[in-house]
Amino acid sequence: MQQRMSVCQVQPWLDAAEQEAVAGCFERQWLTEGPQAAYLRDQLGTLTQAAHVALAPNGTLGLFLALLALDLPRGSEVIMPSFTFMATASAAVFAGLKPVLVDVDPHTFSATPEAFERAVTARTSAFMPVHIYGQAAYAEDVAALGERLDIPVLEDAAQACGVRYRGRHAGTLGTLGVLSFFADKSVTMGEGGAVLTDDAALGRRLKLLRNQGREHSGTFVHEALGMNFRVTDMQCAVGNVQLARLEQVRADRLRRYALYEEGLRGLPGLEFMAVDPDSEFIPFRFPLLSRRMPELRQALEAAGVQTRSMFYPLHLQPCLKGLIDPVSLPVSERLYEQGICLPIHQGVTDEEVAQIVGLIRSTLVPRVNRGLVAVG
Ligand SMILES: Cc1ncc(COP(=O)(O)O)c(C=O)c1O
Repeated sequence: MQQRMSVCQVQPWLDAAEQEAVAGCFERQWLTEGPQAAYLRDQLGTLTQAAHVALAPNGTLGLFLALLALDLPRGSEVIMPSFTFMATASAAVFAGLKPVLVDVDPHTFSATPEAFERAVTARTSAFMPVHIYGQAAYAEDVAALGERLDIPVLEDAAQACGVRYRGRHAGTLGTLGVLSFFADKSVTMGEGGAVLTDDAALGRRLKLLRNQGREHSGTFVHEALGMNFRVTDMQCAVGNVQLARLEQVRADRLRRYALYEEGLRGLPGLEFMAVDPDSEFIPFRFPLLSRRMPELRQALEAAGVQTRSMFYPLHLQPCLKGLIDPVSLPVSERLYEQGICLPIHQGVTDEEVAQIVGLIRSTLVPRVNRGLVAVG
């Protein structure tokens, strides 16, 4: 009998280096934003080549901060895919904007430039493309569309730290971009985020908005209205260690992704996500579509493998009722109905991936049938 596994969906890769880095903050007696934050900003600048990097407490507040910096007309429309995490829309709503939801491509799970263009009205004030599941599909074309129509583009690159599109880092192709460093991301600080931009005026607005309307702490003269979006040096110390491991994370996740793909290819009724060939890829999960999704999830959970569905589409979210126009977006709906996410983090071994693959194979093609097919 197969041994029960114990594989969770999300698990950060943490070891002694993070512990030492955090201990260093205590030794320096410096807990608030300080040397580790400055170093992290520099490292993110080098990685992304963004001219301005503003740290934020998390990706959600990073998106909110970026929208505040854009200072868009109240009630204007922000176009975004329905297939994304709730934060893309909640940031817009809290910034006084109206999310306009569009469907995604059935293969890349991302909204195409055509989908954005079709939804443009006289009230459109921004595009929010989302780089989902570790790729930055269509990043350049959506940014170009924004430029052509003079509509700012805020890239939700929460899931795409380290991912480049034709050599340009996700979140730097549009007007602004946001990264997340939540515990399930390829680089984590527990909670954390960063806003990226090349625009000097936006860079300055971000700086003021995130620090009580002043460039530097220690003064009580506030030239603008701002809030406190600062981070702690302990978070940043963890982030700095993690960033140095990004290439290892990329290689390991790509290897496990290939193991899943090779093991599952050809099974009846399974569909994988297609990756835009111009985008790099750092798998965020192993997303899979199957009409038999509930059965698969049940078998995996029973064997000790934690699974997740895909996102519940924004256009169906109860909390957005009355705030968005009713629409029917069949691809986003199907992704929720048939989608399953398999774990790919550093804590899953190649052997466990092989076991998960075996379990899916035996669920979809039961042994007795395989025997009959072979005999027949
Ligand atoms: C697409 C997307 N946008 C925004 C966020 C929000 O980031 P955070 O969890 O850091 O607030 C996430 C987080 O998972 C995300 O996946």
